[in-house]
Amino acid sequence: MSKLTKLMKRGTDFLGCDTAIMCGAMSWVSERNLVSAISNAGGFGVIACGAMTPDLLDAEISETKKMTQKPFGVNLITMHPDLMALIEICGKHQVSHIVLAGGLPPKGSLEAIKATGAKVICFAPAAALARKFIRSGVDAIIIEGMEAGGHIGPVATSVLAQEILPVVANEVPTFVAGGIATGEMMAAYLEMGASGVQLGTRFVCAHESIAHPDFKKAFLRGNARDAVASVQIDARLPVIPVRALKNKGTEEFTAKQREVANLLDSGEVNMSEAQLQIEHYWAGALRRAVIDGDVENGSLMAGQSVGMVKNEEPVADIIAALNTEADAALAR
Ligand SMILES: Cc1cc2nc3c(=O)[nH]c(=O)nc-3n(C[C@H](O)[C@H](O)[C@H](O)COP(=O)(O)O)c2cc1C
Repeated sequence: MSKLTKLMKRGTDFLGCDTAIMCGAMSWVSERNLVSAISNAGGFGVIACGAMTPDLLDAEISETKKMTQKPFGVNLITMHPDLMALIEICGKHQVSHIVLAGGLPPKGSLEAIKATGAKVICFAPAAALARKFIRSGVDAIIIEGMEAGGHIGPVATSVLAQEILPVVANEVPTFVAGGIATGEMMAAYLEMGASGVQLGTRFVCAHESIAHPDFKKAFLRGNARDAVASVQIDARLPVIPVRALKNKGTEEFTAKQREVANLLDSGEVNMSEAQLQIEHYWAGALRRAVIDGDVENGSLMAGQSVGMVKNEEPVADIIAALNTEADAALAR
């Protein structure tokens, strides 16, 4: 058994795949084609449910199952109004792993997932919260730093890894995400106690990804410094920052925040509706860029590792390159 295989064993046993590389769910990008390609290549694909209705998720899981016999997961957003119905759909398909994103799991959701027989994975932004999740029955943890693409927290991956891995990695499999684009980095986190890694940005330009060619071109051109976090403009409206490549859409988001803050002021919406409007804005803007190819006005969610995405290549080649680099790093 190679050192890499040994370091990943806990992760591969937990996920039921050959290599403990998860492709993080990316709304609009992580659908049947990319998810099945990742799982078929020995990694772990995760369907991004995003704002899908239960019927759409039902169809997406069915189609993914036709394209792979290997395990894959489903990512559900905790604030989705139909969360319980989505869990039921996952249960109907006997989905093996559910990743809960977007904040604390609402009451009853963990129990509902457990009742389907699925394993639950949660994002933990701090050690204390990770421990709380484990006490409530969460099976694995993802720690994701602010280098990542999409919605982000305030702390860097390197700091989270030092703070959280020593506390939780012995208890449950813990996966590290955010800013990972090479096998060297993967190996470093594995040596610190991670059971595996989760990458998003690195897989956007895979051949099998259905992202629009112009979306992929923006990634191939982008540098780390172009992937910036959105700025909150109104203290009363807490907006989860989103990391994306700078474009006209970045300014449109500022205008959207102003519009929603005014609705909040006039009492036309309450805080949770205001936040939901912001999230709907992101989902729509991301769709415009990923699916329609409107890379000017849409959202180009991307992590800082975007500068290391150099070619469009098959998923299997990306995974093989990551593992070869990690093997070499561990042999040094
Ligand atoms: C375009 C895009 C869309 C994303 N959408 C989601 C999502 O719907 N749910 C989620 O939990 N994470 C989402 N993420 C985060 C990824 O799952 C993953 O954790 C992250 O990309 C890892 O960091 P990296 O981009 O530095 O590799 C998204 C990331 C990107 C780049």
